[in-house]
Amino acid sequence: MSSSTAPTLLPLPPYPSHPFTSDSSLHLLFDRSLLPSSVIADLPEQYHIRPLATTDVTRGHIQLLSILSVAPELSQQQYDEIVEDMLVRGRRGGYYPTVIVSRETDQIVATGTLLVERKFIRGGGLVGHIEDIAVSSSAQGRKLGLRIIQALVGISEGTGCYKTILDCNRDNIAFYEKCGFAQKEYEMAKYAPASGVNHPAPATFIPVPDGKKGNSDYLSPNL
Ligand code: ACO
Repeated sequence: MSSSTAPTLLPLPPYPSHPFTSDSSLHLLFDRSLLPSSVIADLPEQYHIRPLATTDVTRGHIQLLSILSVAPELSQQQYDEIVEDMLVRGRRGGYYPTVIVSRETDQIVATGTLLVERKFIRGGGLVGHIEDIAVSSSAQGRKLGLRIIQALVGISEGTGCYKTILDCNRDNIAFYEKCGFAQKEYEMAKYAPASGVNHPAPATFIPVPDGKKGNSDYLSPNL
């Protein structure tokens, strides 16, 4: 009778097929110390928040953004050119694209950008604009959207902005209210003829109670 012993099962490495790329191996678009430590501490262990990296085109960045608007795939060269342009335009800090990466897949599961605008008013004050927030459908509902917003607001206030603003559609108002934002003003848009959008999307009238007028009175789909 053969004396076969059961093979010893070695524990699998946690994430064998997609090794997580550490920040030290990446070229990040801004100094990660600008990210609030409270946001880093509150993130679930399987996720990592960092500034966008020059190679994030290979980590699903554009596919994720396609849930927001038309976002055709980009080659690494096209991506490099966009990143370079952002760095030139924001030489002293203007663009803060931020991502949350899954440690399991090394893919981007949430993203958003802060733009900082210098004003002539308010004694040359700064205003932060939040743009292009997206969380992958498989990761929604885990507070990653909230963490991205908290990170961008933290950068905005940390760099001296006196306010942080954004535009959104009606469906997302409750989300942004949970992030601490309040409705104010109206959004207007005019598309260039070359954009291919024949006319601005028709605004949807949403009645709001007197005394609570805000930018959700007239809302357009995100194009
Ligand atoms: N309506 C009401 N409440 C919401 C909504 C919503 N649409 N989305 C999230 N919430 C609530 C959550 O229930 C949670 O509440 P809780 O604290 O009481 O539990 C809180 O807001 C935080 O939610 P998160 O889990 O952080 O939300 P998530 O990670 O799913 O991200 C987001 C929300 C960004 C809207 C995501 O659903 C998404 O990517 N949607 C598609 C793209 C999109 O619409 N992006 C925003 C465009 S606007 C702009 O870019 C400025």
